[in-house]
Amino acid sequence: MVKVAFGQMNPVLLSPEDNLSKAEALIERAALEGARLIILPELFDTGYNFESKEEVEGVAQPIPDGKTTRFLIRAARKYGIFIVAGTAERDSLGRLYNSAVVVGPMGYIGKYRKIHLFAHEKEFFEPGNLGFQVFNIGFTRIGVMICFDWFFPESVRTLALKGAEIIAHPANLVMPYAPRAMPIRALENRVYTITADRVGVERGLRFIGRSQINSPRAEVLVEGSEDGEEVGIAEIDLSLARDKRLNDYNDVFRDRKPQYYAR
Ligand code: ACM
Repeated sequence: MVKVAFGQMNPVLLSPEDNLSKAEALIERAALEGARLIILPELFDTGYNFESKEEVEGVAQPIPDGKTTRFLIRAARKYGIFIVAGTAERDSLGRLYNSAVVVGPMGYIGKYRKIHLFAHEKEFFEPGNLGFQVFNIGFTRIGVMICFDWFFPESVRTLALKGAEIIAHPANLVMPYAPRAMPIRALENRVYTITADRVGVERGLRFIGRSQINSPRAEVLVEGSEDGEEVGIAEIDLSLARDKRLNDYNDVFRDRKPQYYAR
Protein backbone atom coordinates (compact mmCIF):
# COMPACT_ATOMS: atom_id res chain seq x y z
CA MET A 1 0.00 0.00 0.00
CA VAL A 2 1.22 3.49 -0.81
CA LYS A 3 -0.23 6.96 -0.20
CA VAL A 4 -0.69 9.27 -3.19
CA ALA A 5 -2.13 12.78 -3.38
CA PHE A 6 -3.55 15.56 -5.47
CA GLY A 7 -2.96 19.22 -4.68
CA GLN A 8 -5.98 21.28 -5.75
CA MET A 9 -5.17 24.99 -5.99
CA ASN A 10 -6.28 28.38 -7.31
CA PRO A 11 -3.29 29.74 -9.25
CA VAL A 12 -2.90 33.49 -9.61
CA LEU A 13 -2.75 34.41 -13.31
CA LEU A 14 0.75 35.49 -14.45
CA SER A 15 2.14 35.37 -10.91
CA PRO A 16 4.56 32.42 -10.69
CA GLU A 17 6.11 33.47 -7.35
CA ASP A 18 2.71 33.38 -5.60
CA ASN A 19 1.93 30.05 -7.21
CA LEU A 20 5.19 28.37 -6.21
CA SER A 21 4.45 29.35 -2.57
CA LYS A 22 0.91 27.98 -2.74
CA ALA A 23 2.21 24.76 -4.32
CA GLU A 24 4.92 24.33 -1.68
CA ALA A 25 2.28 24.49 1.09
CA LEU A 26 0.30 21.70 -0.62
CA ILE A 27 3.42 19.58 -1.23
CA GLU A 28 4.45 19.96 2.42
CA ARG A 29 0.97 18.96 3.66
CA ALA A 30 0.91 15.86 1.43
CA ALA A 31 4.40 14.82 2.52
CA LEU A 32 3.56 15.31 6.23
CA GLU A 33 0.60 12.95 5.75
CA GLY A 34 2.91 10.33 4.24
CA ALA A 35 2.19 10.70 0.51
CA ARG A 36 4.99 9.48 -1.80
CA LEU A 37 3.55 11.13 -4.93
CA ILE A 38 1.61 14.36 -5.47
CA ILE A 39 0.05 15.66 -8.67
CA LEU A 40 -0.44 19.43 -9.12
CA PRO A 41 -2.77 21.09 -11.68
CA GLU A 42 -2.13 21.99 -15.31
CA LEU A 43 -0.22 25.32 -15.62
CA PHE A 44 -0.04 25.47 -11.80
CA ASP A 45 2.64 28.20 -11.88
CA THR A 46 1.23 30.54 -14.56
CA GLY A 47 -2.57 30.39 -14.55
CA TYR A 48 -4.56 29.43 -17.65
CA ASN A 49 -6.71 32.04 -19.33
CA PHE A 50 -4.09 33.92 -21.36
CA GLU A 51 -5.08 36.73 -23.73
CA SER A 52 -1.99 36.75 -25.94
CA LYS A 53 1.05 34.71 -26.85
CA GLU A 54 3.18 37.49 -25.34
CA GLU A 55 1.61 36.79 -21.95
CA VAL A 56 2.61 33.12 -22.19
CA GLU A 57 6.11 34.04 -23.39
CA GLY A 58 6.48 36.24 -20.30
CA VAL A 59 6.00 33.31 -17.90
CA ALA A 60 7.00 30.15 -19.84
CA GLN A 61 10.24 28.47 -18.74
CA PRO A 62 12.64 25.94 -20.22
CA ILE A 63 12.42 22.38 -18.86
CA PRO A 64 14.48 21.24 -16.97
CA ASP A 65 16.64 24.38 -16.75
CA GLY A 66 13.96 26.91 -15.79
CA LYS A 67 12.84 28.30 -12.45
CA THR A 68 9.72 26.16 -12.09
CA THR A 69 11.48 22.83 -12.63
CA ARG A 70 14.28 23.91 -10.28
CA PHE A 71 11.67 24.78 -7.63
CA LEU A 72 9.96 21.39 -8.08
CA ILE A 73 13.27 19.52 -7.78
CA ARG A 74 14.12 21.40 -4.57
CA ALA A 75 10.67 20.64 -3.12
CA ALA A 76 10.85 16.95 -4.09
CA ARG A 77 14.23 16.65 -2.40
CA LYS A 78 13.22 18.62 0.72
CA TYR A 79 9.98 16.69 1.29
CA GLY A 80 11.10 13.29 -0.07
CA ILE A 81 8.23 13.05 -2.55
CA PHE A 82 7.65 12.55 -6.29
CA ILE A 83 5.82 15.41 -8.05
CA VAL A 84 4.02 15.72 -11.39
CA ALA A 85 3.05 19.32 -12.16
CA GLY A 86 1.70 21.20 -15.17
CA THR A 87 3.64 24.24 -16.41
CA ALA A 88 4.17 26.42 -19.49
CA GLU A 89 7.33 25.40 -21.38
CA ARG A 90 9.46 27.47 -23.77
CA ASP A 91 11.90 25.37 -25.81
CA SER A 92 15.26 26.49 -27.19
CA LEU A 93 13.61 27.73 -30.41
CA GLY A 94 11.02 29.77 -28.50
CA ARG A 95 8.14 27.35 -29.14
CA LEU A 96 5.55 27.10 -26.35
CA TYR A 97 4.09 23.89 -24.93
CA ASN A 98 1.48 23.13 -22.27
CA SER A 99 3.71 20.65 -20.42
CA ALA A 100 4.02 18.59 -17.27
CA VAL A 101 7.23 17.93 -15.36
CA VAL A 102 8.04 14.74 -13.42
CA VAL A 103 10.58 15.05 -10.59
CA GLY A 104 11.60 13.07 -7.52
CA PRO A 105 13.94 13.26 -4.55
CA MET A 106 16.85 12.36 -6.88
CA GLY A 107 16.03 15.16 -9.35
CA TYR A 108 14.53 15.62 -12.80
CA ILE A 109 12.85 12.57 -14.35
CA GLY A 110 11.08 13.77 -17.49
CA LYS A 111 8.39 15.84 -19.16
CA TYR A 112 5.22 15.45 -21.20
CA ARG A 113 3.81 17.97 -23.70
CA LYS A 114 0.00 18.11 -23.95
CA ILE A 115 -1.14 16.42 -27.16
CA HIS A 116 -4.84 17.36 -27.31
CA LEU A 117 -5.01 21.15 -26.95
CA PHE A 118 -8.35 22.62 -25.82
CA ALA A 119 -10.04 25.70 -27.33
CA HIS A 120 -7.87 28.89 -27.17
CA GLU A 121 -4.82 26.87 -26.11
CA LYS A 122 -4.38 26.29 -29.86
CA GLU A 123 -3.60 30.02 -30.25
CA PHE A 124 -0.71 29.88 -27.79
CA PHE A 125 0.78 26.39 -27.65
CA GLU A 126 2.20 23.85 -30.09
CA PRO A 127 0.62 20.38 -29.83
CA GLY A 128 2.78 17.95 -27.89
CA ASN A 129 5.41 16.06 -29.92
CA LEU A 130 6.82 13.63 -27.35
CA GLY A 131 4.06 11.02 -27.42
CA PHE A 132 2.47 9.46 -24.34
CA GLN A 133 5.21 8.45 -21.94
CA VAL A 134 5.46 6.23 -18.90
CA PHE A 135 8.01 7.01 -16.18
CA ASN A 136 9.38 4.36 -13.83
CA ILE A 137 9.73 5.96 -10.40
CA GLY A 138 10.81 2.82 -8.57
CA PHE A 139 7.71 1.83 -6.60
CA THR A 140 5.43 2.30 -9.62
CA ARG A 141 5.16 3.45 -13.24
CA ILE A 142 3.28 6.65 -13.96
CA GLY A 143 1.77 7.72 -17.25
CA VAL A 144 1.18 11.43 -17.75
CA MET A 145 -1.60 13.23 -19.63
CA ILE A 146 -2.98 16.75 -19.27
CA CYS A 147 -6.61 17.84 -18.87
CA PHE A 148 -8.48 17.58 -22.23
CA ASP A 149 -6.36 14.51 -23.15
CA TRP A 150 -8.93 12.63 -21.01
CA PHE A 151 -11.62 13.23 -23.67
CA PHE A 152 -9.75 10.83 -25.98
CA PRO A 153 -9.91 7.29 -24.51
CA GLU A 154 -6.79 6.48 -26.51
CA SER A 155 -4.71 8.60 -24.13
CA VAL A 156 -5.20 6.47 -21.01
CA ARG A 157 -5.35 3.29 -23.11
CA THR A 158 -1.96 4.02 -24.67
CA LEU A 159 -0.40 4.83 -21.30
CA ALA A 160 -1.89 1.69 -19.73
CA LEU A 161 -0.72 -0.52 -22.63
CA LYS A 162 2.76 0.98 -22.13
CA GLY A 163 2.71 -0.20 -18.52
CA ALA A 164 1.40 2.76 -16.50
CA GLU A 165 -0.14 1.78 -13.17
CA ILE A 166 -1.07 5.32 -12.17
CA ILE A 167 -2.28 8.01 -14.57
CA ALA A 168 -1.07 11.44 -13.41
CA HIS A 169 -3.57 13.97 -14.77
CA PRO A 170 -2.86 17.65 -14.13
CA ALA A 171 -6.00 19.55 -15.18
CA ASN A 172 -7.75 22.91 -15.48
CA LEU A 173 -11.25 21.51 -16.08
CA VAL A 174 -13.96 23.83 -17.38
CA MET A 175 -16.51 21.29 -18.67
CA PRO A 176 -18.45 19.21 -16.09
CA TYR A 177 -17.85 15.73 -17.51
CA ALA A 178 -14.44 14.50 -16.35
CA PRO A 179 -15.45 13.57 -12.77
CA ARG A 180 -17.99 11.13 -14.26
CA ALA A 181 -15.68 9.83 -17.00
CA MET A 182 -12.41 9.35 -15.14
CA PRO A 183 -13.60 6.46 -12.89
CA ILE A 184 -14.49 4.61 -16.12
CA ARG A 185 -11.07 5.37 -17.66
CA ALA A 186 -9.62 3.77 -14.51
CA LEU A 187 -11.96 0.77 -14.73
CA GLU A 188 -11.51 -0.05 -18.40
CA ASN A 189 -7.71 0.07 -18.11
CA ARG A 190 -7.46 -1.24 -14.54
CA VAL A 191 -5.24 1.63 -13.46
CA TYR A 192 -5.41 4.29 -10.75
CA THR A 193 -6.04 7.83 -11.97
CA ILE A 194 -5.15 11.02 -10.12
CA THR A 195 -6.72 14.18 -11.53
CA ALA A 196 -5.34 17.35 -9.92
CA ASP A 197 -7.67 20.14 -10.93
CA ARG A 198 -7.69 23.85 -10.17
CA VAL A 199 -10.46 26.03 -8.76
CA GLY A 200 -11.39 29.70 -9.06
CA VAL A 201 -12.42 32.11 -11.80
CA GLU A 202 -9.99 33.70 -14.23
CA ARG A 203 -11.14 36.53 -16.53
CA GLY A 204 -14.68 35.13 -16.29
CA LEU A 205 -13.70 31.47 -16.86
CA ARG A 206 -14.73 29.19 -13.97
CA PHE A 207 -12.84 25.96 -13.16
CA ILE A 208 -14.76 23.06 -11.62
CA GLY A 209 -12.38 21.67 -8.98
CA ARG A 210 -13.48 18.13 -7.99
CA SER A 211 -10.01 16.62 -8.28
CA GLN A 212 -10.12 12.85 -7.88
CA ILE A 213 -8.21 9.71 -7.09
CA ASN A 214 -9.95 6.73 -8.76
CA SER A 215 -9.32 3.01 -8.41
CA PRO A 216 -9.19 0.21 -11.03
CA ARG A 217 -12.63 -0.79 -9.67
CA ALA A 218 -14.11 2.60 -10.67
CA GLU A 219 -14.25 3.75 -7.05
CA VAL A 220 -13.79 7.46 -6.38
CA LEU A 221 -11.42 7.11 -3.42
CA VAL A 222 -11.31 10.85 -2.70
CA GLU A 223 -12.81 13.89 -4.42
CA GLY A 224 -12.00 17.57 -3.92
CA SER A 225 -14.53 20.35 -3.40
CA GLU A 226 -15.68 22.71 -6.17
CA ASP A 227 -13.88 25.75 -4.78
CA GLY A 228 -11.28 24.89 -2.13
CA GLU A 229 -7.49 24.78 -2.19
CA GLU A 230 -6.81 21.38 -0.66
CA VAL A 231 -4.86 18.15 -0.61
CA GLY A 232 -6.61 14.82 -1.23
CA ILE A 233 -4.88 11.62 -0.20
CA ALA A 234 -5.66 7.95 -0.79
CA GLU A 235 -3.86 4.78 0.17
CA ILE A 236 -3.73 2.56 -2.89
CA ASP A 237 -2.87 -1.08 -3.59
CA LEU A 238 -0.75 -1.15 -6.76
CA SER A 239 -1.17 -4.93 -7.16
CA LEU A 240 -4.73 -4.18 -8.34
CA ALA A 241 -3.38 -2.12 -11.24
CA ARG A 242 -0.84 -4.79 -12.18
CA ASP A 243 -3.49 -7.50 -12.52
CA LYS A 244 -5.62 -7.03 -15.63
CA ARG A 245 -7.80 -10.12 -14.94
CA LEU A 246 -11.48 -9.62 -14.15
CA ASN A 247 -12.15 -13.30 -13.43
CA ASP A 248 -10.76 -16.72 -14.44
CA TYR A 249 -11.74 -16.10 -18.07
CA ASN A 250 -11.30 -12.40 -18.79
CA ASP A 251 -8.20 -10.27 -18.93
CA VAL A 252 -9.03 -6.77 -20.15
CA PHE A 253 -5.81 -6.46 -22.13
CA ARG A 254 -5.44 -10.02 -23.48
CA ASP A 255 -9.11 -10.06 -24.52
CA ARG A 256 -8.74 -7.00 -26.74
CA LYS A 257 -9.40 -7.61 -30.47
CA PRO A 258 -7.47 -4.84 -32.22
CA GLN A 259 -8.03 -6.46 -35.63
CA TYR A 260 -11.67 -5.35 -35.34
CA TYR A 261 -11.03 -1.83 -34.07
CA ALA A 262 -10.97 1.25 -36.35
CA ARG A 263 -7.82 3.39 -36.43
C1 ACM B 1 -8.42 21.88 -20.58
O1 ACM B 1 -7.90 21.04 -21.31
N1 ACM B 1 -7.69 22.65 -19.80
C2 ACM B 1 -9.88 22.06 -20.54
